[in-house]
Amino acid sequence: MVSKSSVSHKKKHADYESVGEADSLIDSLRNVLRYRKKDLLQKSVLEIITEIENEVNPRMGDGINYLPVKEDLRQIVEAKTLARASYYVRRLIKSLSGTKTNGINDINLYRWKEYDEVLTDSLWTFERRDTSGAHLGWYWGNFVPQIPHQLLLRYTKRGDWILDPFAGSGTTLIECNRLGRNGIGVEINEDIVKKATELIAKEPNKYGTRSVLAIGDSTRIDFNGLCKRNHISRVQLVIVHPPYFDIIKFSDHSEDLSNARSVEKFLEKFGRVVRRVSSVLQDRRYLVLVAGDKYQNGEWIPLGFNMMEEVMKNGFKLTGIIAKNFEDTRAKRNQKELWRYRALAGGFYVFKHEYIFIFKKQKERESGADRV
Ligand SMILES: C[S@@+](CC[C@H](N)C(=O)[O-])C[C@H]1O[C@@H](n2cnc3c(N)ncnc32)[C@H](O)[C@@H]1O
Repeated sequence: MVSKSSVSHKKKHADYESVGEADSLIDSLRNVLRYRKKDLLQKSVLEIITEIENEVNPRMGDGINYLPVKEDLRQIVEAKTLARASYYVRRLIKSLSGTKTNGINDINLYRWKEYDEVLTDSLWTFERRDTSGAHLGWYWGNFVPQIPHQLLLRYTKRGDWILDPFAGSGTTLIECNRLGRNGIGVEINEDIVKKATELIAKEPNKYGTRSVLAIGDSTRIDFNGLCKRNHISRVQLVIVHPPYFDIIKFSDHSEDLSNARSVEKFLEKFGRVVRRVSSVLQDRRYLVLVAGDKYQNGEWIPLGFNMMEEVMKNGFKLTGIIAKNFEDTRAKRNQKELWRYRALAGGFYVFKHEYIFIFKKQKERESGADRV
């Protein structure tokens, strides 16, 4: 019998990067390996399952997820031979005690079944925005916090630096703070920087990470200097969420990308930002572009893909395109109806999606990209 005290399987850490070590569960599993009879081993494993079911909420949210562990335990109980059952026990012990990552993030591949929150499909639909904590959703043109949340889990480790050259209301930086990453943002609009700074400071900083938010024009700013002044050697992820040309006028600044005089000028400025951020991004790490298209004079302008090409021209390899649903919850009902009428009458479609393009920075000699 496994004693109650030895099966207090509660996690030690409370986040995805260091899912609980489950030491006591490992001890219990090591104990069952002593049995030389299959029935006794399996009876003991059944007791572990019962105790997990009785004592621990099997889906605690941010720690060890007992659902896949229970599946593995059941596999042991259903094994046909002692050798098979013991093999499954050893394999579970290894997955609970060891760590195997892809080097880019903290996802423990031995326990990949536990990360069901992390999306791997190319279609993302979020029913509603995360409005918890400092994520107030007040800024017109922001993205849902779930976007940086997913990207940080997939493309960074705890302690990494993330750069957002169109920081807006600070969604990326708030999410960095929550997940134990450091964030550096640049935003052209001083008023927005002030408000974002206040909100970022309100978010509890349980990992003691740093947030740097600077007022500046990302087409001109010296990102290397900015990083140096803040004692950052390189960043490990860049999240780029520019204006979708002039769909929303963000400010009166002439260098604001939403004030570009034409799509061509917009793309030229965008390209400049890509080259600048690339100069501080570590080789073989990721740049993510969140972008949408627009209609102009009855023509669909594939801005997202135009920007994608701009990134690829500058030393990046495209590794993924995600379509994300886009619900304009603020538009009034009669406005929505008007768009539906126009769509029916004009033979076009109302935007309900945007893109998330994933790029990997190539080493300089691989890319042959022009310098800043
Ligand atoms: C689509 S919004 C980003 C919103 C942000 N992701 C958020 O969740 O709040 C684009 C932002 O880029 C800023 N911007 C436009 N041109 C810029 C430039 N040249 N340099 C820095 N920021 C710029 C705008 O003021 C706006 O806040």
